[in-house]
Amino acid sequence: MSDPVDATTTPAWARLTELRAAYEPDLRGAFAADPDRAARFTRTAADLYVDLSKNLVDDAILAALVELADQVGVPQRRDAMFAGKRINVTENRSVLHVALRTPSDESLVVDGTDVVADVHRVLDKVYAFSDKVRSGDWVGVTGKRIETVVNIGIGGSDLGPVMVYEALKPYVQEGLTCRFVSNIDPTDVAVNTADLDPETTLFIVASKTFTTLETLTNARLARSWLLDGLRASGAVGEGDDNARAAVAKHFVAVSTALDKVEAFGIDPKNAFGFWDWVGGRYSVDSAIGTSVCVAIGPENFADFLAGFHAVDVHFRDTPTAKNVPMLMGLLNVWYDGFFDAASHAVLPYAQYLHRFAAYLQQLTMESNGKGVRWDGTPVTTATGEVFWGEPGTNGQHAFYQLIHQGTRVIPCDFITVATPAHPLLDGETDVQELFLANFFAQTAALAFGKTAEEVRAEGTAEAIVPARVFTGNRPTTSVMAPALTPSVVGQLIALYEHITFTQGVVWGIDSFDQWGVELGKQLAQQVTPAVGGDEEALAKQDASTQALIRYYREHRA
Ligand code: F6P
Repeated sequence: MSDPVDATTTPAWARLTELRAAYEPDLRGAFAADPDRAARFTRTAADLYVDLSKNLVDDAILAALVELADQVGVPQRRDAMFAGKRINVTENRSVLHVALRTPSDESLVVDGTDVVADVHRVLDKVYAFSDKVRSGDWVGVTGKRIETVVNIGIGGSDLGPVMVYEALKPYVQEGLTCRFVSNIDPTDVAVNTADLDPETTLFIVASKTFTTLETLTNARLARSWLLDGLRASGAVGEGDDNARAAVAKHFVAVSTALDKVEAFGIDPKNAFGFWDWVGGRYSVDSAIGTSVCVAIGPENFADFLAGFHAVDVHFRDTPTAKNVPMLMGLLNVWYDGFFDAASHAVLPYAQYLHRFAAYLQQLTMESNGKGVRWDGTPVTTATGEVFWGEPGTNGQHAFYQLIHQGTRVIPCDFITVATPAHPLLDGETDVQELFLANFFAQTAALAFGKTAEEVRAEGTAEAIVPARVFTGNRPTTSVMAPALTPSVVGQLIALYEHITFTQGVVWGIDSFDQWGVELGKQLAQQVTPAVGGDEEALAKQDASTQALIRYYREHRA
């Protein structure tokens, strides 16, 4: 694979530097001068309607960003990814999450294996299992049908499933509920199982590596909870055979390491595999999404996958200037590189998307939070902005003060759908209209602001006029879709996967490894004996850690 091109040495970057030096943000002026601006800067990808017109760009800047993509080889790297090339350089792996949603009538042979055929073999197994649980064919050890599915996983084995389950709640089969246990804080498993009936609870242990401390610990705690509960009620007897029989009915697993699944005591027949070419944070549309598939059913899950695929095809086949994920990724590079934007807000005006920002934090920040390029050399520009966000309109009453009048440039993605899942009326008033009025108003307020003259014209006392001025020219992108369907959720995720990809290529980093998570894990293992009272291990720690552990010991009740 070719070495990364240093973006800052390209003619396009030099051009962008010139343009930035001459660029005076003036969205009021831009819209006044160009009545077609909204139409000219709007793009569509599958069902997504994406308005880029309230961004701090003009035609020259957008053209230079498109040139930058070509000069650093974004289209070539994209094609290499779709072809299964090992673009995850530091782990020497292909990156083929797009294969997870490729239709079964297509094929992709990588290293002699048709990965699409493999994908559909596992999907068929996940679908069959989901149908069994949903129909009541799959019952617990006492013959009762499953009512609660508990996904035990962390990071990519949790954030995707919980986000999608929450987003598609209206599609969840009545009588079925999913819970998600991720944190090793014992509170998480304790609270999520406290009110459950072991006889009607099914656990999905989800872990790409099946080595993750939190997940294996929580899986063991869940197994004890299950067996203790079943034995306490006399549902099952003592002894390993009874334990095995119970585990076989109440535990399944998802992993790339099926050997470790078996060693844990889960029958490989009850396990769903996936592959090392799927990054954890890119895995919700693999068998890692089994909890979601059980909840919404195979048909809806297939729509979910089809949504991803529709945006994949757009990303793969659309020239850069019309390519929505590429343009949104390039705009992020523009703000990070030329406006010192250290963060990016994602603001879904859809309560069901309340976990979307958290999901995107892992996707974007574990992908692009790197200071080294894929050839091992240092990066040459700022990388990895902090993604954050909360649903609208809640955010308006929390942090929008800073977005509107703060001193930092915070590019914002506003996301919504036209048709509500709950079309409620307040008397004659359509509440969705009230809701979306805020969506439309916020991006207008951020773009066009309010001048001192306008503030004065409202009769504001001169002394507080400055505090009530809105500078405007605060960049936003609006993403709309007809409704929050399984397909649209898939489309939104694919959109951000490919935005993340684009930024990573421009910065020359390997967006698919995550070596930065290892040191903390290593040290946690070294510190554990010290926390448990091992004086020798404690003595090996730095003075601050020693003192903190002593504080813990003195205060642990
Ligand atoms: O520690 C980070 C990480 O490796 C993520 O990349 C991953 O999604 C998560 O931990 C969980 O890993 P696994 O699915 O292997 O348990």
